[in-house]
Amino acid sequence: MCGIVGFTGPQSAAPILLQGLKALEYRGYDSAGVAVMDGGSIRLEKVSGRIANLCEKTRDGQAVPGCTGIGHTRWATHGAPTDINAHPHLSNDGRFAVVHNGIIENFASLRDELTQKGYSFVSETDTEVVVHLIEMYYRGNLKTAVMKTVSRLEGSYALGIVCTDYPDTLFAVRQASPLILGIGAGENFFASDVTALVAHTKNCIYLDDGELAELSPESVKVYDCAGQEIKKSVNRITWDLEAAEKGGYEHFMLKEIMEQPAAVKSALTPRIKNGEIVLDDFDPDGSLLRGVSRIVITACGSAYYAGCAGRYAIERLSRIPVTTVLASELRYDDPIIDDGTLLIVLSQSGETADTIAAMKECKRRGASTLAIVNVVGSTIAKMADHTLYTYAGPEIAVATTKGYTTQLAVLFLFALYAARKLGRIEDAQYRALLRQLKELPKKIQQAIDMAHSTEKLAQKVHKAPSLFFIGRNTDYAVALEGALKMKEISYVHAESYAAGELKHGTIALIVEGQPVIAVCCNEKLSEKTMSNIIEVKARGAKVLSVAVQGNRQIFSVADDVVCIPPTEQLFTPLLAVIPMQLLAYYTAKANGRDIDKPRNLAKSVTVE
Ligand code: AGP
Repeated sequence: MCGIVGFTGPQSAAPILLQGLKALEYRGYDSAGVAVMDGGSIRLEKVSGRIANLCEKTRDGQAVPGCTGIGHTRWATHGAPTDINAHPHLSNDGRFAVVHNGIIENFASLRDELTQKGYSFVSETDTEVVVHLIEMYYRGNLKTAVMKTVSRLEGSYALGIVCTDYPDTLFAVRQASPLILGIGAGENFFASDVTALVAHTKNCIYLDDGELAELSPESVKVYDCAGQEIKKSVNRITWDLEAAEKGGYEHFMLKEIMEQPAAVKSALTPRIKNGEIVLDDFDPDGSLLRGVSRIVITACGSAYYAGCAGRYAIERLSRIPVTTVLASELRYDDPIIDDGTLLIVLSQSGETADTIAAMKECKRRGASTLAIVNVVGSTIAKMADHTLYTYAGPEIAVATTKGYTTQLAVLFLFALYAARKLGRIEDAQYRALLRQLKELPKKIQQAIDMAHSTEKLAQKVHKAPSLFFIGRNTDYAVALEGALKMKEISYVHAESYAAGELKHGTIALIVEGQPVIAVCCNEKLSEKTMSNIIEVKARGAKVLSVAVQGNRQIFSVADDVVCIPPTEQLFTPLLAVIPMQLLAYYTAKANGRDIDKPRNLAKSVTVE
């Protein structure tokens, strides 16, 4: 996710663009830039790092003259966060500049075509194909050139465009990425969301997919995908700036929980083409996988628990032995790692010190490394032999949600991919599982909708001195993450136990009224887990169970039930975790906690 802004009017554009980018910084912050019309040419200023670097370089925009311009703050998806890869991108003839939020899925073929036609590329980004296409199609009418360009694009894009032949005009196009026009008096704006507009105007127009806008200081025109001018209603922004950053949600964590269907879709869609899984450049012919004798998954915290949940699918489908090891343990162990080991490293930030250290040790012992990370160009991404980005977009809340579920989605992709490459799955089963995988974003939304009772259920547990989370097999992996979410944001002590372990000691802790959260979504083991629920209830426990829709027996066993939609059993952790996230969120809210910034915690633990 990135942030784009545009301004045209009587004032100097650069300071306004920078102010807008600061408001959008939560959308992406690994590089930033502006392009401003300056006496017949385009002045381009862009730097890697935070927007503060750009402000320093341009003296808060004072050093960049001109009254019409575009700006961009980047969350890298294609190409590391460097000055060259930062937006805006210029055409070869210097006549056009473009900013982009989204992913151009067919950029590789377009890049080849444009290169063959003599256009030269300077960056690694998908975006750069857009500005060269505009140059290629331009015959004096920019609207026509932009329409021809976007007709060639596949994927998602919110585009901002300036051209030296149109010195006071901005063009903006929306397709599956948000884009809003700000309507001022003698000045007009566009932005990725209202946060960049509210300081200047509360009158806005929300563009819809396929629409193109042409903005000058005195005029705003919107065209449909056929180029016909259309009338759009002007809306009044009611949010204040801070609320707008959270998209109207009270906390970033809740916003990010709700973003999970889209985030998981971003992780899956670019990697499923014509019924086959393509894991970017990882092992296209399966030769690496054929040499793998074991897989070790290492990470910390929730990333480790994502590994615990994904392990089952990888082992069950690929038949390669998989172990999960905490990175903080692995780094000091004397692990049996060699060139037959594939180390899978999970990390949202890509900067976790323990994970980096464990990865270094395993590389030293000969392991091949596959990183599954969210932050493009992060240390772990750069260190790994192969990297699969999760495309979750910036995750602001310290407690990870979409970071976890997108890691899990990529692990499921990997499991199916490995089984296919190693010839360990029948074609029919492969296609059935792929269909189930593609259904997951929709089912996550259903799980969110089905978990509305968690707000009320949180009232039953938020004052408890401690909580038990229990489950078996894949459900146990979910219980691990559920307990961590609960602890780190609500400060209620919680422990997860393999349900089969209760009778080996921990059931001694069950007293009258003890709340127990039982994850009972593994169909093969649900009878066993329901027996465990009966055992703890017999000793006074109050049980909230997460179960698969259609399991009627659970309602006679547990005190409260939150259901998830049915899916392939191996994939249930991706859905069962949703009620866990929401239960933790509402419990923390009931306890008045600082949900996005819990005490003692950091978003990325870059020290030992
Ligand atoms: C999860 O909610 C926590 N913030 C923490 O456990 C986190 O998962 C862990 O520190 C690993 O971070 P990483 O994914 O950035 O490596």
